[in-house]
Amino acid sequence: MNKDRINNVLGIETSCDETAVAIYNKTDGIISHKIYSQADLHAKYGGVVPELASRDHIRKLLPLIDECLSHANLTKYDLDGLAYTRGPGLIGALLVGAMIAKTLAYSLRIPSLGVHHLEGHLLAPLLDLPDLNDQSKLPKFPFIALLVSGGHTMLIKVAKLGQYELLGETIDDAAGEAFDKTAKLLGLGYPGGADLAKLALQGDKNAAMQYVLPRPMTEKAYKNNLDFSFSGLKTAVLTTWQKSQKTPLEKANIAASFQHAMVDTLLIKCKRALEQTNVNQLVIAGGVSANLELRSKLTNLMQEIKGELYLPRQEYCTDNGAMIAFAGFLRLVKGQQDNNLSFVNNENLVVSRWPLSELMPI
Ligand code: KG4
Ligand code: ZN
Repeated sequence: MNKDRINNVLGIETSCDETAVAIYNKTDGIISHKIYSQADLHAKYGGVVPELASRDHIRKLLPLIDECLSHANLTKYDLDGLAYTRGPGLIGALLVGAMIAKTLAYSLRIPSLGVHHLEGHLLAPLLDLPDLNDQSKLPKFPFIALLVSGGHTMLIKVAKLGQYELLGETIDDAAGEAFDKTAKLLGLGYPGGADLAKLALQGDKNAAMQYVLPRPMTEKAYKNNLDFSFSGLKTAVLTTWQKSQKTPLEKANIAASFQHAMVDTLLIKCKRALEQTNVNQLVIAGGVSANLELRSKLTNLMQEIKGELYLPRQEYCTDNGAMIAFAGFLRLVKGQQDNNLSFVNNENLVVSRWPLSELMPI
């Protein structure tokens, strides 16, 4: 396969509880994308059950690929490359996507590539740029990326596409996880981040100031430290909730105060990361980047410091196939690809942990 002839790349995402596929076209960008969420399946357990996730991916992935192709008016013979999430994520769930991608690629005689889930998130804000070859539209390198999802919270310095330096990460819960656990405490469903944000809007005028909650690891002693910790914030919300009368208004006020403390913490850390690196370009990505308070506060911050903020559109914040198709496309056109027979006896076909710093530059 000539890498110059890579026009249509199918992306497959199965790292957790979303079965998602999309097609990235060299000229038109994302031409089709489909997501099937398993949220209802896991809701009654209050979290993702790995074995159920794998089994549901098996049931849903092939029909979803057919649906995605027919929406784009393509058949599988129009595909020039396959990208799938190789990790990090749930091994069983990842294996479903990887095996289907590799088998399809092998039978169609096209290249495949295992993509890093977090690189997918991180590049999602670039999906809507009109012309990727127009350097003036891309964030200037180096830029800082805040990656906030259900499993990760990281500040990363991006020297070039594919070259990532970890500046800080959470030492306990991820930001999305803290949203979900707080939502559960307040009696909301799983995952509850988006519902908690909605509930926060029902608080009274100064809802976000009603309860004083900590901004962990932002104190003076941590001035040069870009790590995060959210377990103390979670405990503070629990104590506040236990002491309250648990009225609907108090519940909404606690949700607003939690969201405010969380957003404030993320904001302080972003500001410090930008100052310390002398950078004024910020990219945010991952499920929590859908949060409207976070988006608006970061927009204000970047206006204040006369910098640029790059945000993914809402549907590309949480897990999706578009980001995997896109990251895969960028690498496949550079000739990067897997050995399509490597899945025979390959223990590293998918990985639950995978440092971003190990990636090849694009
Ligand atoms: O990136 P993602 O889909 O999955 C992982 O890779 O982890 O992120 C999911 C996380 C969940 O914790 C969910 O509650 C959170 O993103 N989330 C939100 C919002 N929408 C999704 N958190 C806060 N506000 C939102 N609007
Ligand atoms: Zn994700």
